[in-house]
Amino acid sequence: MEKYAEHLEVLSERWQAALEQAGFDAAVVAAGAPREYFLDDLPVPFRPNPHFAQWFPDADCAHSALVIRPGERPRLLFYQPRDYWHQPPSVPEWAHAHFDVAVHTDLDGLNRAVAAALTSNRLAFVGEQPPDDVGAVTPNPPLLLNLLHYQRAYKTDFEIACMATANERAAAGHLAARAAFEAGLSEFHTQLRYLEAAGQTPEELPYHNIVAQNRHAGVLHYQHYERRPPEPLLSFLIDAGASHAGYAADVTRTYASPAAGAFAALVAGMDAAQRGLIERIRPGIDYTDVHEEAHRAVAALLAEHALVRCSAEAAFESGLTRTFLPHGVGHLIGLQTHDVGGHQASPDGGLRPPPEQYPALRLTRPVEARQVFTIEPGLYFIPMLLDELRQSPLAREVDWSRIEALSPCGGIRIEDNVVVTESGTRNLTREAFARAAELHG
Ligand code: GLY
Ligand code: MN
Ligand code: MN
Repeated sequence: MEKYAEHLEVLSERWQAALEQAGFDAAVVAAGAPREYFLDDLPVPFRPNPHFAQWFPDADCAHSALVIRPGERPRLLFYQPRDYWHQPPSVPEWAHAHFDVAVHTDLDGLNRAVAAALTSNRLAFVGEQPPDDVGAVTPNPPLLLNLLHYQRAYKTDFEIACMATANERAAAGHLAARAAFEAGLSEFHTQLRYLEAAGQTPEELPYHNIVAQNRHAGVLHYQHYERRPPEPLLSFLIDAGASHAGYAADVTRTYASPAAGAFAALVAGMDAAQRGLIERIRPGIDYTDVHEEAHRAVAALLAEHALVRCSAEAAFESGLTRTFLPHGVGHLIGLQTHDVGGHQASPDGGLRPPPEQYPALRLTRPVEARQVFTIEPGLYFIPMLLDELRQSPLAREVDWSRIEALSPCGGIRIEDNVVVTESGTRNLTREAFARAAELHG
């Protein structure tokens, strides 16, 4: 818990500075309430407000709230209903060392306690739904949120350790999924193997796993799980994560079966290109340039594998690579898979939008130490985009027979989570795969 104590110190400093700059004395941070499905009494799986989760890394916290007042220990107003339908949450042992804890068994009492804690009208509320009787609070002040979201990009040692653990879970799942692919299992059965090896329920995953065989790999966020494998089984793209203490891993691997022919060499080429992109990352470079480098790498692969008739340089310059790589090269990751603040130009506001030709790029900030982001170049055969290319003047640059031969394999994505250090990067994902291979492989 040493790293957690340090993490809370960093958070206290950040909140103190942000509250002061935004003109507030204190903030109430609400974990939030579970929602129900429309016209139903069943709850949608609950995810706490990430601002609450950053202070309190335990998802069993619905309706609880924190009072953050600089100079004082944070107060945790913990909701523990008397409930025999469910297992009520209880205050984790470690929390008492870091928070002044008050347990409430009814919501009205909890809201009255929040109101009583609030003696100033310079009060911010951070959460989805301010309680009615909390008085003159300002809900989600934009400046306060901008300041906090900008800082979220710089991970504490605790957060990095959580993401390292999440990556270890994901790597264990990915190894089992790879074995399932080699054994010819369906998408559905591969997903089950993944969950078991990663030790995660679907609700615990940070996002819906993408388990895509053959042409499904060309659907960027393919969402189904076929019960039967295709015949023949050619390729497998798995974008599957894991979480630990609220922090996400977001990992993709692509595999080719012996029946996939030239696709295997393309996968190996993309893996090498992805490592090359990561090797060049260090503080001071621009993430937008990494994205552009990814397009140059795709151009090089298209030329090397004779999918285009022009040079790699021409494939890049003409924008032809955008048909094959229509998403960004990565994004910040942390409490959210696509973490906040990726387009912020400065701590207090202003946006740095993605370049016009790359609207899907989620991160445009300069690279700095303690950022954690994904590097996930891809190369896909997406019918809708290929049709558009076919209608354009660039169509003559493409070897369509080779594209058609590879299209049944769908596409490739290789995705790692990297931490920026003072001099380069630490690759949480490759580290985790190496360790998992030692343990299980
Ligand atoms: N798994 C979603 C993404 O890679 O961004
Ligand atoms: Mn990602
Ligand atoms: Mn992903």
